[in-house]
Amino acid sequence: MTSPLPYRIGYGEDAHRLEAGRSLVLGGVTVPDAPHGAVAHSDGDAVLHAVADALLAGLALGDIGQYFPDTAAEWRGLDSRVIVARALELVRERGYAPVNVALVVTLDRPKLGPLRTDIARSVAALLALPEAEVGVSFKTSEGLAPAHVQVRVSALLARVEPAE
Ligand code: C5P
Ligand code: MG
Repeated sequence: MTSPLPYRIGYGEDAHRLEAGRSLVLGGVTVPDAPHGAVAHSDGDAVLHAVADALLAGLALGDIGQYFPDTAAEWRGLDSRVIVARALELVRERGYAPVNVALVVTLDRPKLGPLRTDIARSVAALLALPEAEVGVSFKTSEGLAPAHVQVRVSALLARVEPAE
């Protein structure tokens, strides 16, 4: 079903528990020297999971678990860029494209400031957007959730093909 709305807002969230000895991947960027990484069925990239959910939510297409069930053996260790690519494809099939996204990562450590540009660039490339259209904010949990990463993403989608 297509929608006549010229713009649609999407919002997505994801969270993962963090454990020592695992790699921490955020927005397709591996955080160097991270003291812990996501416990997950896929690569645990909470940024990309939340981005994909924001895209799907913008068109009321459900969430990534419906397309990539975390109980399915075939998705074990999945590169989350595949999830975003699929969500983007579904958005495009309906005549829309992302315009800009804003993401907030809540993580106590390590500090991510030095990776802000890398993450923006990586997410922008996956969405075929200019880097300036990807806002990246970092917050600590102030020690409330030291073994936890939480990501929140809003996305604006615009109709790029006329409604049928
Ligand atoms: O959460 P809080 O307001 O204390 O964050 C202070 C600053 O630390 C923010 O400017 C944020 O960009 C930065 N930060 C970071 N990496 C994190 C968490 C916060 O660079 N993992
Ligand atoms: Mg996830």
